[in-house]
Parts: sequence; structure tokens; C-alpha cells
Amino acid sequence: MSQAKSDTVYLNGEFLPQDQAFVPVMDRGFVFGDGVYEVIPVYGGRLFRLSEHLERLDNSLTGIRLHNPMSHAQWADILNRLVDKNGGGEQSVYLQITRGHAPRDHAFPANVQPTVFISSSPLKPVAKPLLQNGVAAITLEDIRWKHCHIKAIALLPNILLRQQAIDAGAQEAILIRDDVVTEGAASNVFIVKDSVIKTPTKGPFLLPGITRDLILELATANGLANQECTFSAEELAAADEIWLSSSTKEVLPVTKLDDKPVGNGQPGPVWQQIQTLYQAYKQALIAGEVE
Ligand code: PDD
Repeated sequence: MSQAKSDTVYLNGEFLPQDQAFVPVMDRGFVFGDGVYEVIPVYGGRLFRLSEHLERLDNSLTGIRLHNPMSHAQWADILNRLVDKNGGGEQSVYLQITRGHAPRDHAFPANVQPTVFISSSPLKPVAKPLLQNGVAAITLEDIRWKHCHIKAIALLPNILLRQQAIDAGAQEAILIRDDVVTEGAASNVFIVKDSVIKTPTKGPFLLPGITRDLILELATANGLANQECTFSAEELAAADEIWLSSSTKEVLPVTKLDDKPVGNGQPGPVWQQIQTLYQAYKQALIAGEVE
């Protein structure tokens, strides 16, 4: 099996060793957090759900009124080359576009080239104990802005919320806005109630997760009842199962919420089914049978 590395990055048209890649200090990503990003997992050297990630990138760029500097074919070419240079295998690709560098001014600068940066790092498998025992989460008020469908690099609220969870001995914060569950600080949220899988409906208060969509797709294709709907903090607390989903954590069972066991305190049977389907999908990707 090839060993993924993180030595090479892509910056504005060039592949460079990471320690030789520099961005001007007046880059608006650095000064304002004025940019968007994607995280794309790679399995067996293949980019997972690339078209879906590139479509979401288009939507994020539209959301911040920044022109996409490249076509999907160009992105695919560069991303695949970077993955190869870093040894294939299992990687987590980070792609960021900012509005470029210009003298500090809130207004958009004229005639400035966006900064395009891509790096990748080895993607470690989710630790077995987390899958066997599940993780703890706490609920917190969703203090973020009203455009959470944009994958913005400005993540200060998410960082503060995640750290608050960690400080409380949990792995993730599940966010509540006006008594409605939105998502995790860096993940989407699912519940299972009476064997029905439920996840919040897409909209401006949550990121449309690529992992989320695949879970729903796999559930539907395999006859598991599922629903995109609004649910309250109370329904979350009364769920039989709670899961988190993200590109790097895949589908994680939450077995403790706000210090109370979820269901019987063990990863649930519906999670087991989805986990099996998700892992099979990854194997099909590695075999080149799916994207
Ligand atoms: N974050 N919601 C938020 C706020 C996220 O930051 C993420 C992922 C998700 C899940 O989306 P996806 O399934 O497409 O990864 C939902 C990435 C992994 C990160 O910021 O590192």
C-alpha cells in the first residue's frame, strides 16, 4: 500500500515543497478570513465524490461573489496531480481560495487574482475505540452567522464551539439555533428515532455535507427509512441514536449527549448498517467502481 505524504502543495499555478510556499501577509484570507475552502478525502489514491465537492465549491464562491478561477476539469487535473505527488493512498485534501492580496480595505479590491492553495495530509483511519464505544457530544447555542451553507474559511465561532466541547470532555458540539438542531461545529448531525433516520433539511443554517448526502443516498438505496426534516433539542435528547458525519470522521456514533447516554449508551444497530454500507462504498471507490 502506498504511503501518503504531505510534502508537496499547490500554490497559484505551482507545485512546491510545503516549506517553500508563501502567501503575502496582505492576503485577504489572512487579514479578513475572506475565502472559501473544501476538504476532500482520498481513498486508494482516488478523490471521493469530487464532482459533488466541486459543485459545493462553486456554490461557496458564488456565495462570496468570487469568480471560480478554474473549470472542474482543471481542478480535477491539479487535484489528481497533487494526490499522486503525495503518494496516493489515503489523504485529506485541503483546498482554499481567497480574494487575493491587496491593501487592507473591506471593499472588494479591483483586478486582483484570487489565491489558490491546495495541500494534502495523510488521512488516518478513525480510531477503533471511537467506533466501538462512540463519542460524547454536548449541545451549545449556534452562535454562527446566517450563511452557514457557505464553506467559509472564517471559522472562529466553529473553533470556539469545538474547543468548548473538548474542554467539557466531549468530541463535538451539536449546535442549536432557536431550539432547532442545525449541525456540529465541523460535522452534520443525524438522529434515529423508531428506526427512521433523520437529518436537518438543507438551508442557510448548515453546511450541505457531502458525507451527509451520501448517507441519505445509501440509506434510500438500501431501503432504510430516512427523512430530511427539522428537529428540536428535545427530540435530539430523546433519539435512539445520534451520529455525526464529515469527510474526515465519516459516520461517528454519539453515545453520550450532555453527559447522558444516548439510547442504551452503545453505537446503535442502524449506525452499524450505515457504517457497513459506507465502508463498502469506499471499497467500491478504491476498486474504481464508483466516484
Ligand atoms: N468540515 N458542517 C460543518 C460546519 C463542517 O465543517 C463540515 C466538515 C461538515 C461535513 O461536511 P462534509 O461531509 O462535506 O465533510 C458539516 C471539514 C471536514 C473541515 O472543516 O475540516
